[in-house]
Amino acid sequence: MDELVHLGIIMDGNGRWAKKRNLPRAAGHLEGLKSLKKVIKGAIDEGIKYLTVYCFSTENWKRPEAEVNYLMALFTNKIYGEIRTMGSLGVQVRLLGKREGLPEAALKALDRTVNETSQNDKLVLQLAINYGGHDEIARAVNALIREGVKEVTPELIRSKFDNPDIPPVDFIVRSAGEERLSNFLLFDSAYSELGFYDKLWPDWDEEMIKTVKEDFHKRQRRFGGLA
Ligand code: FPP
Repeated sequence: MDELVHLGIIMDGNGRWAKKRNLPRAAGHLEGLKSLKKVIKGAIDEGIKYLTVYCFSTENWKRPEAEVNYLMALFTNKIYGEIRTMGSLGVQVRLLGKREGLPEAALKALDRTVNETSQNDKLVLQLAINYGGHDEIARAVNALIREGVKEVTPELIRSKFDNPDIPPVDFIVRSAGEERLSNFLLFDSAYSELGFYDKLWPDWDEEMIKTVKEDFHKRQRRFGGLA
C-alpha cells in the first residue's frame, strides 16, 4: 500500500456555497478558509506530511475586481494571523507561485508567515497563490536559459521550481464536482492519483480527509510499470 505523503487540493465551490445561502461570494471564501483550517488539522491527524492547496490561480485575475481584492485581503490579513497560529500545530508554510503581480502587502504578510514557521516540521503547507502549472514550467525554463543551459531535462526543469525539495503530489483531490486540473501542478501530477468529490469546499472538514486517505489506499499505483 502506498503512503499518502503529499496531498494536493483544488478548493472549489466557495461561490456556489455562498449563492445557495444568498450570501456574497466573499462569504464563501471566508467559510472556505475555515474549512482549510479543519482540513489542515485532519491532514496532521492522518499523518500527511505535505499539503498543497490552490488558493489563487494565474487565471483568477479575470474575476471581478472586488472578488480579487477580497481574496488578496484574505492572504494579507488572515494568513499571518490564522495560519500562523497553526505554528502551534507544527505547520510550516511555503509559497508556490509567481510573486510578480501580487500586492506588496500580501507578499510581506506571506513572507513573514513563511519565515516564522520555517522551523516547524509536522506538516508542510504549500499555498499555491498566483500559481499556474504553465507559468511554473516557463519560469523554470527561463531560469535555466539565464544560466546558459542549452538543453533541458525533466530533472533540470524540476530543480528550478519554487520548492524542489517537496516531493511530487501523490493524490490531487477537487471539491465541488468539477473534473479538471485547472492548471494545478501540471508537471508533478504526471503520475498522481486524482479524486473528485461533489461536496463544496466550505463543507469539507477533518472527516473528509479520512475519506480521502481511505480512497487513496484503494488505488494501485504502477508509475508506468507493472503491478
Ligand atoms: C474556488 O471556488 C475557490 C477559490 C478561487 C479561492 C480559494 C480560496 C480559499 C479557500 C481561501 C484560502 C484563504 C487563505 C487565507 C489561504 P469558486 O469561487 O470558484 O467557487 P464556485 O466554483 O462555486 O464559483
